[in-house]
Amino acid sequence: MTTPMEHHPWRGQHLVVHNGLILQPDGRLLRGGLIIRDGCIQAVGADITADPELPCLDAKGHHVLPGVVDPQVHFRDPGLIHKEDLITASRACLRGGVTSYLEMPNTRPPTIDGASLEAKLERAADVSRVHYGFFLGACGDGANLPVLEQDNQGPLAQACGIKMFMGTGHGVLECSDPTVQEAVFAHGHKLIAVHAEDQQRIRQRRERLLTTEPRPADLHSIIQDPEAALLATCHALRLSEKFQRRLHVLHLSTGVEAELLRREKTALVSTEVTPQHLLLNRSAYGRLGALAQMNPPLRDEEDNQVLWQALVDGVIDCIATDHAPHTLAEKARPYPDCPSGMPGVETSLPLMLTQAQAGRCSVADVSRWMSQRPAELYGLEGKGRLAVGYHGDLTVVDLQTIRPVRNGDMVSKCGWSPFDGWELVGWPVATVVAGVVGYAHGVFHEGCRGAALRFV
Ligand code: DOR
Repeated sequence: MTTPMEHHPWRGQHLVVHNGLILQPDGRLLRGGLIIRDGCIQAVGADITADPELPCLDAKGHHVLPGVVDPQVHFRDPGLIHKEDLITASRACLRGGVTSYLEMPNTRPPTIDGASLEAKLERAADVSRVHYGFFLGACGDGANLPVLEQDNQGPLAQACGIKMFMGTGHGVLECSDPTVQEAVFAHGHKLIAVHAEDQQRIRQRRERLLTTEPRPADLHSIIQDPEAALLATCHALRLSEKFQRRLHVLHLSTGVEAELLRREKTALVSTEVTPQHLLLNRSAYGRLGALAQMNPPLRDEEDNQVLWQALVDGVIDCIATDHAPHTLAEKARPYPDCPSGMPGVETSLPLMLTQAQAGRCSVADVSRWMSQRPAELYGLEGKGRLAVGYHGDLTVVDLQTIRPVRNGDMVSKCGWSPFDGWELVGWPVATVVAGVVGYAHGVFHEGCRGAALRFV
């Protein structure tokens, strides 16, 4: 682990968190506290109590977990800031216990070169309340292949990975041509994260299935069917194998893909699932209409179960939200003109902790899936664990009080959640970023700032 002052601007960021149940890396709980000095954890112990010399946070007996690392979000900044921006999104992160995020390139302009990546990093340094990393997108026409081949010099050195939209849409980022896909996998070493849906199949099914009226939003799950996802995931696995390339399959949505990965996943391959794909299915369209529309689409209840089992068995490595906000006005357009995507960073941790409290997994499992594993997969220095030398990023969660998700409480600019009305436990009562309390009991500290994530 690095020393705090080597490259972090966190001098003077001290905090004592006391009277908590600290989740340790081995999954055991320690009744006590921890000391953060210059943004990094200096001590963890049963005997740590409030210190009159230092700022203190009384955890009041609640669980203290590593801050959540969300490895897939769309924060819309620049260019689509009527939906979200880095200020509203990172405040939403604080409210949800998320202290680091990896953001996708489908902004305007798209993040496809050094200039667009630098601009994002500068904006995030100015305003992001939590730590940040950004993907570089693979252009569908191969135009930025020279940038993507460079690996650890040039822009890619500052990116968390390469994002490839094998489908569906996103202008220059639609990378559905197998020749270009192969070229991206063939050169360089950096992790390639794929949105695995087969664009050709989707196009054919759209032509066939969108000709008749009415067109309810649940048609989305029929057009972009499980086979479309399976075809693309199979293809990505073949490319990873052929070029011995690190592959991350984003937001796994179907039981068939989970079973494929159970059989064929190699050490080069990792994958994630969203709380939406675990907890919602096609029945949600009845309640939510187009608010339930996302890519890849919601599937069946059986898929929820197979995905959950794959997560428990370690076939699926981690949780991501795919936070993809759109305004209610945009979502009110008739299908297929309404955009796909749902917000997620404010609710992901309490959703998962509610599952733990219901006995489906442990709190330590949730933290492993939401902090430790994503930090490991992307080589995020200092993240994902509460241990000496790690960064002072944490969230204090209340596992006793049940509170509903309410659209009106959302700080994300879109102002809605597909989980509106769900009764959850495990809401963050405080979130700490490198030793600074960014959020506590509904109040934000607007001066809290994250730093650029470092990838080792
Ligand atoms: O539903 C989705 N919406 N899935 C994606 O992968 C992209 C996202 C968006 O940016 O709106």
